[in-house]
Amino acid sequence: MRIPFLTSRRDYALEPLSVADAAAISALHREDFVRPWTDGEFATLLSQDTVFGFTAREVGQGAKPPVGFVLARLAAGEAEILTVAVARTHRRQGLGWQLMDAVLRNLHAERAEALFLEVDETNVAALALYRRLGFREVGKRPNYYRSPEHGPTGALVMRRDLR
Ligand SMILES: CC(C)(COP(=O)(O)OP(=O)(O)OC[C@H]1O[C@@H](n2cnc3c(N)ncnc32)[C@H](O)[C@@H]1OP(=O)(O)O)[C@@H](O)C(=O)NCCC(=O)NCCS
Repeated sequence: MRIPFLTSRRDYALEPLSVADAAAISALHREDFVRPWTDGEFATLLSQDTVFGFTAREVGQGAKPPVGFVLARLAAGEAEILTVAVARTHRRQGLGWQLMDAVLRNLHAERAEALFLEVDETNVAALALYRRLGFREVGKRPNYYRSPEHGPTGALVMRRDLR
């Protein structure tokens, strides 16, 4: 399955994540997270039946590396976003939205009940995206993250009803 879409500036396509994407998405993850996940950790997650996700790639000649991805897990009717990231040079073009929307569509098709995620309370971009997608805060974990920029920060637990 390949889902093409056009932003104001470039052509992209979404594709389901596979174990073969582990190294490429690990490189993307490393750009943004204080504790990046290794290629092996992604490969292990992607080999699990409950884990799924999508990549966003530019459309063009030859194989293009992913410029964004989302990874989610669905078990017993409840799902969680494990991680989502878009390369800095491709942000604010709707990729994050498209990736999250692909997960939501998949979960609707699977008749899942709810999608959860955890987000750093200082992550303005992600919070804005999630709120626009209909997530609401259902909990908070104080001092959950630690970054050189902000020190200890809390995690907001967010939920999006699917039914
Ligand atoms: C969060 C992230 C995935 C968003 O990806 P993106 O492709 O830039 O997001 P989109 O272009 O789809 O944005 C959709 C909407 O989200 C909101 N948004 C996204 N980035 C924003 C920002 N920097 N500031 C304010 N609102 C923002 C806007 O409402 C935006 O719609 P608009 O552009 O029409 O105003 C991206 O910033 C990222 O990879 N961040 C680093 C990794 C990360 O923090 N992941 C989340 C961990 S929980």
